Amino acid sequence: MITSKQLREAWLNFYKERGHEDIGAVSLIGDGSTGVMFNVAGMQPLMPYLLGAKHPSGKTRLCNVQGCVRTVDIEAVGDESHFTFFEMMGNWSLGDYFKEEKTKWTFDFLTKVIGFDKNKICSTVFAGNDAVARDDEAVNCLIKAGVKKENIFYLKDNWWELEGTVNTPCGPDNEWFYPRHDKPCSDHCDATCECGRWVEVGNDVYMQYKKLEGEKFEPLKNKNVDTGFGFERLLMYVNGLTDGYTTDLFAGVINYMSKKLGVSYGDDKDITKSMRVIADHMRTTVMLIGDINGILPSNVGAGYILRRIMRRAIRHAKKIGLIGEDLLNICRIYIEEVYNEAYPLLVEKKDYILSSITAEFDKFSKTIETGLKEFDKLVNGIYRKQEFMKKSNPNYVVTDEDNTISGKAAFRLYETYGFPVEMTEELASEKGLSVDLNGYKQAEKEHQELARANAQNAKSGLASSGEIETKYHTATHLLNAALKKVVGETSHQMGSNINAERLRFDFACDHKLSEQEIKKVEEIVNNWISQDLVVTKEEMTKQKAVEIGAEHQFIERYPDIVSVFTIGDASKEICTGPHVKSTKELGVFKIKKEEASSAGVRRIKAQLQP
Ligand code: ALA
Repeated sequence: MITSKQLREAWLNFYKERGHEDIGAVSLIGDGSTGVMFNVAGMQPLMPYLLGAKHPSGKTRLCNVQGCVRTVDIEAVGDESHFTFFEMMGNWSLGDYFKEEKTKWTFDFLTKVIGFDKNKICSTVFAGNDAVARDDEAVNCLIKAGVKKENIFYLKDNWWELEGTVNTPCGPDNEWFYPRHDKPCSDHCDATCECGRWVEVGNDVYMQYKKLEGEKFEPLKNKNVDTGFGFERLLMYVNGLTDGYTTDLFAGVINYMSKKLGVSYGDDKDITKSMRVIADHMRTTVMLIGDINGILPSNVGAGYILRRIMRRAIRHAKKIGLIGEDLLNICRIYIEEVYNEAYPLLVEKKDYILSSITAEFDKFSKTIETGLKEFDKLVNGIYRKQEFMKKSNPNYVVTDEDNTISGKAAFRLYETYGFPVEMTEELASEKGLSVDLNGYKQAEKEHQELARANAQNAKSGLASSGEIETKYHTATHLLNAALKKVVGETSHQMGSNINAERLRFDFACDHKLSEQEIKKVEEIVNNWISQDLVVTKEEMTKQKAVEIGAEHQFIERYPDIVSVFTIGDASKEICTGPHVKSTKELGVFKIKKEEASSAGVRRIKAQLQP
């Protein structure tokens, strides 16, 4: 058994003994120089030195263990091997040693320190392309270092660069593989086989080129080495494990959850997945908030990625029955027991980290339950429609479109309940459904335009409230409620504008209202008016308002205490008023115009007549 602390030390000592300076880790948050949001590789902060600048330490041999955050497949976290935060054990030669020393040191580290069998170690090298020749030099060095000739393979893919960047260092790489077990899947099961037996344990990149615009390369002044070995991965394999969450890095956290829930890790597939999601995502959360350039959850950029990660963890916690305090305890284990030595800043920032997590937890807790109910309603609607189609036509074949949640509905889940669309997608995929992402983007765009227009209106002081306007406010609530009855629950307010002449109301609806529908809406509203329903106002917390089913548009924008206006049993809506005392005052409600407002949004103009 090699512990994480031992492996960390073994790596640094091995390279320090070979003249390397331990430069320590830098911030996880990208410094903006490459356009990459987070630090995704140990070499990222060293870019200027790989391109030729002198390192501040004055040294040409460097090493460290660097935290990295990769968020391309957050939703894949939950299996044995995906992590959003991981550490990379690295060492570098800045124009100092090259392939001969590097191949020997990697081979020695794997065989002498880690204890891998030298006969099983495999290596892949760059096969060459039109721009750069095959790396025979590396092959000769590998054989000299002790790798068996038959264990070396040429591959076209063995090239490393920081994707999406230009004017950055890059070059052919030499990847190291070791088998997870001794049962080949076939006679051809070598290091290039994708059956799962072969695992890349590390990568030596020979950074001797600079990547220019248009897939062009120019040789660098210095020939550099950039090595990256996945810390979690190596820790797992040296201990003969195949599940990354069973290493000592996660033992405390997984044990905590097991005890709390009374279930063993691995027993139940879904619970195990949730445990991994929580373990990974809370670790990344601690690291990102506790970083020297720490960030907080928000709706844009890196903050949004953090929010996605946190909310996904919160959802999985709720799913398996953990509460906010459990998430905090999990974070405490990381801060106090696992990373206290390697990341002392986390200990210093502990209170800040925990209170920031509490704030996000509290915020999302207010809406997640109701949001999940809304989601279930959507899914049931989809199923009901399919049943109906099948009943009316026994040959009906369910289409992809039938199994898709509309972009508008997904956007409503985000805007009203704070569900990141990726979370809605994950919820949908658990039900065999997908989400219309283009529709989502469209809904988001329309929403932004509407918000801008509303802000403009508010600024130009259009909202005045005389007696007639007050009546229109109340009539608008009745119209909103009547539309829900006629068009369906999916109809909801997208915008509203009132002046002394008329009310104007935009609402989500995928079709032009028929004459009958318009008549029906008028009838319902006038029927309520004639019942002389009493309008009451009640103050309550936003959470309570959502719980009692009060209609609302942008829940995250309301203050913590809101006014809920109730009109008999016709309508219940969060609003800032003003409203009439009873509906009798309104007169006769008449729809004057029904037209398209934007895609999927209809507009009604209506008047009250004495
Ligand atoms: N930069 C190389 C990698 O990330 C070592 O694999």
